[in-house]
Amino acid sequence: MQRLISVLFAGVALCQHTIDLSSQQWTLKGPNVTVPGSVPSQAHLDLYAAGAIGDPLYGENDTALLWVQRSNWTYSSTIPNLRRENGHSTWLVFDGIDTFASIELCGQFVANVDNQFRQWYFDVTDVVKSCKHDPELSLNFGSASKIVKEIARHGDPLVNSVDGGDTEEFCCKEFMRKEQSDFGWDWAPKLAPAGIWQPGRVVQLNTESPAYVRNALIDIYRKDQMNNIPPDQSQPWVFNASLDYLGSLPRGVSLELTLNDANGHEILKKNLDDVHHSEDTITGSVIIDPRLVELWWPINLGSQPLYDASIKIVHGRSMIAEVERRVGFRTIVMNLLPITKEQLAAGIAPGSNFHFEVNGHEFYAKGSNLVPPDVFWPRVNETKMRNLFEAVAVGNQNMLRVWSSGAYLPDWIYEIADEMGIFLWSEFEFSDAEYPANASYLSQYKAEASYQVRRVNHHPSLAVWVGGNELEQIMLAYFFSATDPGTLLLEYQHIFMELLIGEVYANSRSISYMPSSTYHGFLKLNFSSVMPQVPRYLNTSGPNYIYADTDDYNYDASQAFELSSYPIGRFATEFGFHSMPSVYSWEQAVPADQLSFFSDMVIHRNRHYPFGGPANATNRELSILGLEEMTTAVQEWYPIPNMKDSVANFTAWCWTTQVFQADYYTSELAFYRRGSGMPQRNLGSLYWQLEDLWTSPTWASIEADGRWKVLFYRAKDIFEPVIGYPYYNTSTGDLEVWATSDLWSPVHGTVKLSWMDWTGKPLSGSNSPVSKTVPFTVGGVNSTRVMQTNMFQDYKGLDLNNTILRVEVNGKGVAPNDRHEKEQTYKHTSFFHPQSLQNAKLQDPGLKVSHVHGTNEFDVTATKGVAAWVWLDYPLGVQGYFSDNGFWLTPGETRNIHFTVKQDWTDGKWVSAVTYRSIWNNTLTE
Ligand SMILES: *[C@@H]1O[C@H](CO)[C@@H](O)[C@H](O)[C@H]1NC(C)=O
Ligand SMILES: *[C@@H]1O[C@H](CO)[C@@H](O)[C@H](O)[C@H]1NC(C)=O
Ligand SMILES: *[C@@H]1O[C@H](CO)[C@@H](O)[C@H](O)[C@H]1NC(C)=O
Ligand SMILES: *[C@@H]1O[C@H](CO)[C@@H](O)[C@H](O)[C@H]1NC(C)=O
Ligand SMILES: *[C@@H]1O[C@H](CO)[C@@H](O)[C@H](O)[C@H]1NC(C)=O
Ligand SMILES: *[C@@H]1O[C@H](CO)[C@@H](O)[C@H](O)[C@H]1NC(C)=O
Ligand SMILES: *[C@@H]1O[C@H](CO)[C@@H](O)[C@H](O)[C@H]1NC(C)=O
Repeated sequence: MQRLISVLFAGVALCQHTIDLSSQQWTLKGPNVTVPGSVPSQAHLDLYAAGAIGDPLYGENDTALLWVQRSNWTYSSTIPNLRRENGHSTWLVFDGIDTFASIELCGQFVANVDNQFRQWYFDVTDVVKSCKHDPELSLNFGSASKIVKEIARHGDPLVNSVDGGDTEEFCCKEFMRKEQSDFGWDWAPKLAPAGIWQPGRVVQLNTESPAYVRNALIDIYRKDQMNNIPPDQSQPWVFNASLDYLGSLPRGVSLELTLNDANGHEILKKNLDDVHHSEDTITGSVIIDPRLVELWWPINLGSQPLYDASIKIVHGRSMIAEVERRVGFRTIVMNLLPITKEQLAAGIAPGSNFHFEVNGHEFYAKGSNLVPPDVFWPRVNETKMRNLFEAVAVGNQNMLRVWSSGAYLPDWIYEIADEMGIFLWSEFEFSDAEYPANASYLSQYKAEASYQVRRVNHHPSLAVWVGGNELEQIMLAYFFSATDPGTLLLEYQHIFMELLIGEVYANSRSISYMPSSTYHGFLKLNFSSVMPQVPRYLNTSGPNYIYADTDDYNYDASQAFELSSYPIGRFATEFGFHSMPSVYSWEQAVPADQLSFFSDMVIHRNRHYPFGGPANATNRELSILGLEEMTTAVQEWYPIPNMKDSVANFTAWCWTTQVFQADYYTSELAFYRRGSGMPQRNLGSLYWQLEDLWTSPTWASIEADGRWKVLFYRAKDIFEPVIGYPYYNTSTGDLEVWATSDLWSPVHGTVKLSWMDWTGKPLSGSNSPVSKTVPFTVGGVNSTRVMQTNMFQDYKGLDLNNTILRVEVNGKGVAPNDRHEKEQTYKHTSFFHPQSLQNAKLQDPGLKVSHVHGTNEFDVTATKGVAAWVWLDYPLGVQGYFSDNGFWLTPGETRNIHFTVKQDWTDGKWVSAVTYRSIWNNTLTE
């Protein structure tokens, strides 16, 4: 963590006398225990490090440790070497305090704080001067779950009545500005940590260095660009900088910009124009010739050139302060404008757009939803996040939705995204609730939004700002009346359609805003109105009109592959189904006697309780119902594991729930992607959810220790640029095969359609479908049908339980922004079976896996029959990922699979502990 902090602050060159709070000695004192503390940290982490508690994420410790979140915790430290003479002013600056704390310095009260997401700063000059010794700084943290209950009791009765929570930990979280998932979510435990969770410092100023820059806004946009509107790409760039400072600036200061490329070559050195300063902000801007810089693109759509910008506040010949930020030049717009005549002519349904445009180009957003990577943010480190983003990049994803309500990502995570070309759809931390809107809350939201918008605006990976999660749909479902808006709707509009949008539009011209995921869009955009986007809500023009993004969950597994059950929209923001983590994760999280599907600890750790469960049911009963949704899915679609050895049985069950999850999401992702060539013109699918923060049954595609679930491998495959996929109507028997591409120019080639039985032999009956190879061409970001048939009518007498179609696309095309316009080959294979694999006439595939000596490679062969869902597992002791997994093989086919090692504690011995299976193994008892 130390190194990261220095990376973070290397950005601010300090002439001031600054003491980093993380370099000080801290003590943490609780009701019955005192241990060494640290900054940034949280009480749970320091107690765990000192051995005062066990691992909070192990077993049922989340419940056993409730006393920690119900206690006050005081962090204190003596600050040496402060200058106490006249002429010095002293400031405390905290980049984040979690959450309710009373701050004292030298025994004197400084402030109460109550918002995790704000930067807090206090002028403590007088306290320091009057202190007779090195002052002690202390922060006494109250219990957030207790305090918020008290607040809610005196809170808005209207809001209170719609709060569903009952227990102390779940109640009322919308009444505080603290990470909402700290109080439990359907994938998270309730630990509600407390502490100085971000870096902090003491800053001393004097006449030579009279100002300290605490935050900086850099906005890079095309001249005349306005938010939410595609800009003119032929315009030059505007570089606008606005620095928030503490202290004071003399008259006549200037701002000097230097821009260096990644090799350190100076591109530009100029004074900013129109410099003006208020008592806490100094602003200026300059026009930059677009020929001086290269465009930044997301991954697979171009390169990611970055530039180091330095902005100096200069007075005469001396520099007062310098701010360094790494920036990129790109435009990104969330286009919500009406469908145009040209779009109608191209076959797009009327309504409004819902897609992203980077540098003037529409592109298909492929990705997932990012939840907090750990219950405890202070221990999230660069290695962990680089590994996670590497997976995202390797997994063919170009966008993550940074879901509310976790926490705003620190700059260093945006920097990883800037480097790797991953767009971050960023949300304010409001989710699934009505939020109070009295004056004191409004001022909290404003301070928080202003700080965050200004802090992250320079990152080219910032894709959009969104007010919050699932707010509009809750509004429309429960509180909406066109004739009488009602208080809750007016409050919602005030927070999300006036206040937050106001902060975005006032600080940035480069970033789009929408109030909620999902969002029906706006009827009008008027930048001079206090409510710039006039919301459409249910004001739709007719049944053929399409407006919004979609958010869809269906836990009736029998409908999983029923394409007509999927929503049709312009963009799929959320969808999914939960699965079990692997046995490897469970082994690390619970004792050995808990390794069974309905063990007490598995039941305890599952937090997905089905919608509409009996009102009088206990959490335990609801959890069992949630687990049964997964077992029901397995029983419907796959051979049912029934192994004699109980751990082997548990392993197979966990894996099969992952196979179902992967199977279901693949079908949904292929459906949404095909929609790019249909009237809905779908231009994005972000599945729920990328990763886990602890081991429990969730929607995650990557487990808490970084292990990829079956889903992550299959999403990687179906996110390939050019795919071929079968679309089947299970009730009519209609089957179509489509090719879909998200390259920007046409792809041409062939699709090989091979029909076979489970032994891999061609179908032989007189009425069987015939294998063939068909040519295809598909336009940029489009899809095309390459085959159509009916499984019930066209092949009378065909045994559907012994029928497989292999679809193999072999196309040629040019990658977006490839300067050499070099044609590349794009291949993709998928398999279709008309019936549930439970009824299929599976054959023993005779699977063989051999380690290629001296490498991290494995040759995988099916020797006897078709192998469905071939799966390799690596043991504990090594971390990494396979180049492919969860795939199908036809007899005689060998695949070479590479394992990328991220960490190895086995000295290479892991290669002999790799295991493998396919769905055939579910039929075996050993
Ligand atoms: C502190 O109190 C809690 C709650 O009563 C208890 O569980 C824990 O063991 C105590 N710790 C120490 C170090 O006494
Ligand atoms: C928590 O987990 C640890 C394992 O790290 C265990 O030893 C301990 O007893 C558990 N309970 C508590 C209350 O810490
Ligand atoms: C607990 O912390 C809260 C918030 O800082 C404070 O108001 C309260 O006085 C503290 N209680 C005790 C007993 O220290
Ligand atoms: C997709 O391709 C079809 C067939 O060439 C074409 O008619 C349609 O306009 C294309 N769609 C878009 C949005 O360009
Ligand atoms: C980073 O965090 C991971 C856990 O996510 C941990 O295993 C690793 O040791 C940490 N690395 C460093 C350098 O602290
Ligand atoms: C829960 O309510 C149902 C009726 O809705 C009733 O049949 C059942 O006995 C109740 N169960 C308990 C544990 O109270
Ligand atoms: C395997 O696990 C399932 C699900 O937990 C259970 O119903 C079945 O009885 C187990 N089989 C054996 C042989 O233990």
